Amino acid sequence: MIQETEKENKMKEQLAKIRAEALAAFAGAQDSAQLDALRVQYLGKKGELTAVLKMMGKLSPEERPQMGQLANDVRAALERALEERGRELEAAALERRLKEEAVDVTIPGKAVSLGHKHPMSIALDEIKEIFIGMGFDVLDGPEIELASYNFDRLNADEGHPSRDWSDTFYFDKDSRVMLRSQTSPMQVRAMETRSLPIRIIAPGRVYRKDEVDATHSPMFHQVEGMVIDRNVTMADLKGTLNLLVESLYGKGTQTRFRPHHFPFTEPSCEMDVQCHKCGGKGCPTCKGEGWIELLGAGMIHPRVLEMSGIDPNEWSGWAFGMGLERTAMRRFKISDLRLIFENDMRFLSQF
Ligand code: PHE
Repeated sequence: MIQETEKENKMKEQLAKIRAEALAAFAGAQDSAQLDALRVQYLGKKGELTAVLKMMGKLSPEERPQMGQLANDVRAALERALEERGRELEAAALERRLKEEAVDVTIPGKAVSLGHKHPMSIALDEIKEIFIGMGFDVLDGPEIELASYNFDRLNADEGHPSRDWSDTFYFDKDSRVMLRSQTSPMQVRAMETRSLPIRIIAPGRVYRKDEVDATHSPMFHQVEGMVIDRNVTMADLKGTLNLLVESLYGKGTQTRFRPHHFPFTEPSCEMDVQCHKCGGKGCPTCKGEGWIELLGAGMIHPRVLEMSGIDPNEWSGWAFGMGLERTAMRRFKISDLRLIFENDMRFLSQF
């Protein structure tokens, strides 16, 4: 009996010790992972409290209920403490997260700057729109071109001044491969690949050996236009170009056709537009002329049609070629061509 009491006292001591230690440990846990480890250490299957409970079997039947009660009290106290500390840690973690992830809704947002079309693209898209509306197709062609397309089949034979090395960029010493000097080779390419009748425009880059200044650049853009059909006349050419000019510069804008020479058109002309600045009186913009040159055009030379296998007795056509930079400069009142290529954002952002 004495022995049993001793055993009982020892167990009581152990239980008290576990209880004190565990409560202190729980209070000291810094996060829920630590707390969980402590739960296992004290209340788990192999935990310290369970070890004591296993010794219950060695107690006498009289002592067992009392000890059982005591052990259950300790377990309940630990469980309560665990739960409480768990809630505290959770609340602290939430508090920390709220602080860390706080969003200051009063800070001004970052401006999203949307880009926009380059003035050249705006001008070209306008021109495309006008011609697409009249049933034209838009073609693209090579900038590295054969002299046969750029010159020969456009009726500009050996010895024509524009074939000179001082004007044109050639790749070979025989002057057969070159950077196209005009979009007109697209006339030949269209005649070669399309079935009649033909209605096309062909915008793109062209290259000439020009020094850079306010109105010149060794690379610039042209838009070629061509129609081949039965009974096509100069009147169709003038009507179409007048419509183009009125769409670009406003209803009632006057045009003027002057005789000119191109090897691939006959007759040939240049078309001027009445100066938008002075209305034709003469000012610095039009250099006192009252008119500004816009494009070259004419009726396709019968030899050009023949060279591409089209019978000039059955078919006729017209063509024109306009400089795109000049059109954009006039449209947006840009005074220096170089601004268009320098890509200075202060300039570009104005459009
Ligand atoms: N290709 C000519 C030029 O660059 C313009 C032109 C095109 C003239 C079509 C007549 C017909 O000057």
